[in-house]
Amino acid sequence: MLRTTTCGALRGTDAGKTVTLCGWVDSARDHSGVFFVNLRDRYGITQTVFYSDGSAELFSQVKTLRNEDVIRITGTVLARPEGLINPKMPTGEIEVKAESLEILNRSEVLPFLPSAPELPSDEIRLKNRFLDLRRPEMQRVLRLRHKMTKVMRDYFDELDFLEVETPILGKSTPEGARDYLVPSRIAQGSFYALPQSPQLYKQLLMIAGYDRYMQIARCFRDEDLRADRQPEFTQLDIEMSFIEMEDILEIMSGLVQRLMKDVLGRDLPLPIPRMSWDEAMERFGHDAPDLRFGMELKDVTDIAKEVDFRVFRAVADTAGGRVRGINVKNAADRFSRKDIDSLTAWTAEQFGAKGIVWFKADAEGNLTGSSAKNFTAEQLQKIAQRLQAGPNDLLLFSCGDFLLTCRVLNGLRRKLAAQLKLIDPKEMNFCWVVNFPMFEFSEEENRWVAMHHPFTCPKTEDLQFLESDPGRVRAQAYDLVLNGFEVGGGTIRIHDSATQNRIFSLLGMTREQAREQFGFLLDALAFGAPPHGGLAFGLDRLVMLFAGADNIRDCIAFPKTAKAADLMTGAPGQVDPRQLEELAIKTVLPPKED
Ligand code: AMO
Repeated sequence: MLRTTTCGALRGTDAGKTVTLCGWVDSARDHSGVFFVNLRDRYGITQTVFYSDGSAELFSQVKTLRNEDVIRITGTVLARPEGLINPKMPTGEIEVKAESLEILNRSEVLPFLPSAPELPSDEIRLKNRFLDLRRPEMQRVLRLRHKMTKVMRDYFDELDFLEVETPILGKSTPEGARDYLVPSRIAQGSFYALPQSPQLYKQLLMIAGYDRYMQIARCFRDEDLRADRQPEFTQLDIEMSFIEMEDILEIMSGLVQRLMKDVLGRDLPLPIPRMSWDEAMERFGHDAPDLRFGMELKDVTDIAKEVDFRVFRAVADTAGGRVRGINVKNAADRFSRKDIDSLTAWTAEQFGAKGIVWFKADAEGNLTGSSAKNFTAEQLQKIAQRLQAGPNDLLLFSCGDFLLTCRVLNGLRRKLAAQLKLIDPKEMNFCWVVNFPMFEFSEEENRWVAMHHPFTCPKTEDLQFLESDPGRVRAQAYDLVLNGFEVGGGTIRIHDSATQNRIFSLLGMTREQAREQFGFLLDALAFGAPPHGGLAFGLDRLVMLFAGADNIRDCIAFPKTAKAADLMTGAPGQVDPRQLEELAIKTVLPPKED
């Protein structure tokens, strides 16, 4: 070992010891005759001190140090005098008086200093990720991530789960995104798909009798990226046999409680509240509702049917048309007409909303606003009552089909809560959302698609509507929501091949296509499949929320950009033409735009 101790270990009780430390120069300061070097490693920072009245050679050597040089110092631990103790540093009771210095490696001038309070641009950080990862905040998050996976492994080990690795080179597992494909050299023209999740393998493990499976699994999805999505991400993946939804919810709630206690030192009372998908969409306009603030959606379609105001009336009279609104409490004086116009433009751009109808409540609670003249006093009062309007409240309404009003009002609700600082940043608000629809209709593909995945078991009582009214069928599906993010999802699976075939055919697959793609699953289901189900947590999202970060990129050691690129290594990159030849691949690129 090049060192006797790390930079975070020394305390007042170590005074008098001779120690050797290794690390990076976090800062170096010359205080006329005394030179202070703060030495950093992942355990912490120790202040070391060099005196000019000691060895002249040592003092001239230390003066050449620059930030991020890698050095080794031997010296004596000194207790700092009372007034110089730094209570902010765990090692603040001591300093090390240096007796020798070895420069292990010099650093060139850096694109940014890991110790600088101001962060450089994301691009510079990602390009120099090895420097970015030196920052204490990044190290804190990666330590927290390690701790969370350790708690998960321990928890499931105690409950007799087996950790089993499933293949990365496999066949497509549909989870709703595009696959990343890997060409085969041996079977030219054929491709592996990287797993979007270990879904099918874990079901096969249940059929093989493994009973309780878990894996910290890497998943790959080629989809549009957002702050909470990466093309390559990690799931805590589990599957269990001979269970029902309640069992999964109980076990996973227990894990969440344990994570809260062991990682954050906080108590989480159980049970975690539950809400149906219908209720979440009605009250919050989203299936991952953020329950840390109010501003719930209220429906006024019935009132809109009685008014002359064309914008409301036309939608209310259309089948499926809805008029819904939110009450932004005590905010009327904070939003000028111009502010509301820009909110309206935002909803048009983001969600395709045709407009926002707004009212402000005056000191008596009466509604005013440019549209108010189109309503009778009685109608305005009904609206005010429905939205529980009080003085200075701002009411915002969206009209259209159910899902459009959901998108617009959920968007506004979240945006305004952030803008008006309605959220306690320390709150951890969990909720289970259950009873999802089994299918949603894809306008793009003009067919029904599975809302979770096609291996999900419909509710037994809804099986009868499978062919006649697919939109009515509810699934045995459940999501875990934390602070408005979907952090996990799972389902009870179909465990007989006849039902599985019915679902495939409803999703538009012919028998032949189903066999070609999922023959192995259909076979396995026919050879003694136990009732089973499971769930996966998005590990990166969970770490993000536990760490108080606002982007999963900051919770992954080597993440990708929004364009799915690794700026540091340059992936994805060109390959040697010989490699393409071996794979029998020719690329045909579209002509470059000027
Ligand atoms: P699902 O697709 O809901 O379910 O994924 C489970 C959880 O994984 C996280 N997640 C992501 N995190 C980061 N980047 C992404 N691109 C990304 N996509 C998903 C989310 C999500 O809740 N096989 C099923 C699970 C099951 O049924 O057991 C599945 O993958 O937090």
